[in-house]
Amino acid sequence: MFAVIIEETGGPDVLRYGEIATPEPGPDDIRVRIAYAGVNPADWKNRQGMLAAFRPYTFPCVIGFDAAGVVDAVGANVSGFTPGDRVFTPTNHGQGGQGSYAEFAIASADRVAHIPEGMSFAQAAALPVAALTAWQGLFDRGGLQAGQMAMIHGGSGGLGGFAVQFARWAGARVAATCSTPNVEYLKSLGVERVIDYRKENISEAVAAWAPGGLDYLMDAVGASTIPNGLDMVRTGGTFVSIPTLTDDGDIPAAAVAGAAKGVNRVFSTMVDVGCNVQLAQIAKLLVEGHITLPPLHEYALRDVARAHEAVQSGHTRGKIVLKVADL
Ligand SMILES: NC(=O)c1ccc[n+]([C@@H]2O[C@H](COP(=O)([O-])OP(=O)(O)OC[C@H]3O[C@@H](n4cnc5c(N)ncnc54)[C@H](OP(=O)(O)O)[C@@H]3O)[C@@H](O)[C@H]2O)c1
Repeated sequence: MFAVIIEETGGPDVLRYGEIATPEPGPDDIRVRIAYAGVNPADWKNRQGMLAAFRPYTFPCVIGFDAAGVVDAVGANVSGFTPGDRVFTPTNHGQGGQGSYAEFAIASADRVAHIPEGMSFAQAAALPVAALTAWQGLFDRGGLQAGQMAMIHGGSGGLGGFAVQFARWAGARVAATCSTPNVEYLKSLGVERVIDYRKENISEAVAAWAPGGLDYLMDAVGASTIPNGLDMVRTGGTFVSIPTLTDDGDIPAAAVAGAAKGVNRVFSTMVDVGCNVQLAQIAKLLVEGHITLPPLHEYALRDVARAHEAVQSGHTRGKIVLKVADL
């Protein structure tokens, strides 16, 4: 199959378009023929070798987590999927399988959901990692409730665009930070208090908006960009950080400080085992119009280096997707 492969970790120049053996599905797996691959910040970090702590790199390596396409083949134990079905998935890349910047990828069936009618491959490819991480950080680990006052630090990114909308859909009152060019974008997503971090003091803005302290805070940017986050959360509230691999501060010390203040201090990394149920739920919210898809920026697979430069800038509004094939 054709794929973008790396033979070594490094900068965007290590991304090469080439050929590699087509992966075979195991008994519980689905092989997906990919139409679009989604791009996440984890991809450039992966390319640079930053995921070595989680699993060894075996070269040639295909990176990329998110994929949307059609079922190509199913393992002996898989039911509910037939070749030709339109599906999306974070693939098995997180478990060491080859990634989604390729003609085909393998995913365990419990990580695969059908794409609902009315949703394109490009839209579906933008969902898995960003939307699942937002959902789990808000609800599974953050316990966000209707009526609570929530702030999303980094509301204009891929993850943040989902987080602010999920929080609103759940009935929370939502504030979010972004840079000046994204203020109107976040207003359009229904954010009640948009905080322009380039012009405003975040702490002062939050104190005026939520004088009793936030019930919930999500940091989707990095510890150095919100060093006083704990001070913004009320005792008994929740402060969720999404680990970035690049700017996480001192996690054990943060946990101790959170406990001392009586704040539920959480570091929430995406869990993809059995994520098919959440993927289907999120897709339903989209096609029913409860949330809108953040803006998509499309690149051809062969332009992957440019896509990586864009995501690595740290200022993507919405999501980047790679077109792999016309399906
Ligand atoms: N551990 C996990 O399971 C997991 C899963 C998903 C994502 N992540 C991590 O979560 C982070 C966000 O992911 P993403 O997909 O949303 O990234 P993204 O699409 O690149 O968005 C990043 C956003 O951060 C904002 N930003 C940059 N500097 C900022 C600052 N100083 N203050 C406030 N906002 C700032 C940018 O907004 P402006 O352009 O408006 O400044 C941009 O929209 C990444 O580090 C990613 O690796 C971790």
